[in-house]
Amino acid sequence: MTINVLDEMRSRGVPVDKQYRSWSDFTIEPYNKREVDTFTRSRIYLMGAIESGVIDHSNTFLRFTGNEEIRNTLAMIRRAEHQQEVALNYLIPGDESPLERTIAWEQMMVELTAYCARSESDPYIKQVFNYILLDDFDHLYRFCELMDLVERRDPNEILQYRTEIHWGRATSEGHHFPTDDIKQGCSRRSMSPLTTFHILTLLNAKRRKRDFYVNQGNQYTHNLSRQVYSEIAEIEEQHLTMLTSLCDPTTTFFELELLNHACEAFNYYNFGQDETDPRIRRVWNDHYYMELEHMRIMGEFLQRFEGKAATDVISSHFPEAIRFTSNKDYISWVLGTQVGLRSVGHDFVSRENVPSDWLSNYYSGVVNAKGCPCEQVVHTDLNLPRHRFDLSERAGVLAWV
Ligand SMILES: [Fe+2]
Ligand SMILES: [Fe+2]
Ligand SMILES: [Fe+2]
Repeated sequence: MTINVLDEMRSRGVPVDKQYRSWSDFTIEPYNKREVDTFTRSRIYLMGAIESGVIDHSNTFLRFTGNEEIRNTLAMIRRAEHQQEVALNYLIPGDESPLERTIAWEQMMVELTAYCARSESDPYIKQVFNYILLDDFDHLYRFCELMDLVERRDPNEILQYRTEIHWGRATSEGHHFPTDDIKQGCSRRSMSPLTTFHILTLLNAKRRKRDFYVNQGNQYTHNLSRQVYSEIAEIEEQHLTMLTSLCDPTTTFFELELLNHACEAFNYYNFGQDETDPRIRRVWNDHYYMELEHMRIMGEFLQRFEGKAATDVISSHFPEAIRFTSNKDYISWVLGTQVGLRSVGHDFVSRENVPSDWLSNYYSGVVNAKGCPCEQVVHTDLNLPRHRFDLSERAGVLAWV
């Protein structure tokens, strides 16, 4: 049995006005990029992204409420979130290049999405996650090719051999007409607490990743690099649309505010358990106690302003954790069995069965009309470890339930 979060938030949170810190307290020494464990880095990237998404929602909420008590309380919480986000993003060192960060981001997304897909109980949502997984797996491969082409470096300096480097669903074949990214909206009332946290976690990570590519891909003078970033950025936008379209459209601002803080607390708590670096573990624990108070306040507001109990929105106990770990066998299985799927409206169908008037055929023709940067970046003079290892062959002997 996991912890009772309702008890925790009633008794262990830090008052919001005690959450503000001095500049030097929340911008601490960055990690060493040559020594950091790759999954410690994944946790740092992910939580910075979640903080950013929570701040976005809080600001949107502010725009749509005239109640001064709510506006002031949101502002107080949002300032604490801002300091949390800065604390996390400033753990990333200045000597970590945009391409190193890109490869680390794709690894984080691959392992996060694979873990969420593995542990997802709703078959439709699991299918969406698996679909996104094979796209991100391919992005990782293309960026590794780019690193080899431009810098002649082995991407395993970053990946630490925890994630395979291998093509997934070819990026050039993944471009959709916008409506093919709209998936079936789900009812939160029939969703498990873990499914809700899967969607919120992936959604916020994906939002940040799209922003990163849109804003960082222009840092290169090398033209093919710029084009690879622009091509992959658009698939990140597709994924963001897919994940957002899964969300329950009846969720209110108060409900989402509570869910957001609960999702933060859930991940901080679990990362505090998993973290191997004691210095970073302290950050997870400090932020966890702050989130408990955000949850408590929003639970109270939910009761006062909408007449709903916190337990109408969140479960009394946290579900099982989202963890960072290698998922090589699971990814092999998904690759071996689902790489031929294509997104057609709400559904996924095999490549052979897409309708002749599939709008994404038209769209691919437009964007790929003058060549595909993600194909051009693949070159033949590589000697990376992946060439000794064929995941799709291995997939044939694996079974995954
Ligand atoms: Fe936060
Ligand atoms: Fe990606
Ligand atoms: Fe929060």
